[in-house]
Amino acid sequence: MDERFQSTDPPPRPSPMIKAEGGLGTKADTRSSAGVNPGPMAGAPGLRVRPALESDVAAIEALEQSSFSDPWSASSFRSSLERPEVHMTVAEWRDEGTEPILVGYMVAWFMGPEGEIANIAVEASWQRRGVGAVLLDEVLATGQAAGVDTIYLEVRPSNAAAQALYAGRGFRTVGRRRNYYLDPPEDALVLRWDGDHSLVRARA
Ligand SMILES: CC(C)(COP(=O)(O)OP(=O)(O)OC[C@H]1O[C@@H](n2cnc3c(N)ncnc32)[C@H](O)[C@@H]1OP(=O)(O)O)[C@@H](O)C(=O)NCCC(=O)NCCS
Repeated sequence: MDERFQSTDPPPRPSPMIKAEGGLGTKADTRSSAGVNPGPMAGAPGLRVRPALESDVAAIEALEQSSFSDPWSASSFRSSLERPEVHMTVAEWRDEGTEPILVGYMVAWFMGPEGEIANIAVEASWQRRGVGAVLLDEVLATGQAAGVDTIYLEVRPSNAAAQALYAGRGFRTVGRRRNYYLDPPEDALVLRWDGDHSLVRARA
């Protein structure tokens, strides 16, 4: 947890933060390389990133539970939605003539010049197709437009997929929190993005 946010009544974070960035990196990495990878879809017309709605919470919770060992609750997502400093988005995919399906989500918050990425997950069979990058780019661009110049996050050292995603957008490791995660216990790497705007790709 980033102490600078504690004094300003942040969103429901203590348990969610531990859970959120503690995703089963190894498990997710394994699943994402399981062969379901029909190709990139970033920029494809069927992919849309939009603000999360209350009606998305059930699908977000389901994806959260399948992605993390110690998931946020539905009420954590609902209360996050009510907080003005929270930026919560979903990625949905729509084939022609079908209902859109939620394939990913991201939760961040912005406070003045600083932000924090609290949670991101992409449905396993949609991973490695650019969805996480589109979600992250949207958050960085929105934060940048809101005057945010520094964004922090925590990630498990074992979560190679997430670290590669963040490194590709200019996040750098700036610290380590001992025994930060539970289930399984693990340190957290603290990553920071310093507003290297050249690394924020165009929105999909
Ligand atoms: C981390 C996660 C959100 C990435 O989402 P994604 O949609 O698969 O990511 P993208 O397809 O947009 O990949 C963007 C870049 O991230 C890196 N990356 C993503 N998955 C990777 C993997 N399994 N192995 C290595 N690099 C990976 C690559 O650099 C990739 O770019 P490339 O495809 O051009 O090589 C996804 O793996 C996930 O939901 N994991 C489970 C939840 C989790 O761990 N969340 C993060 C908590 S900190």
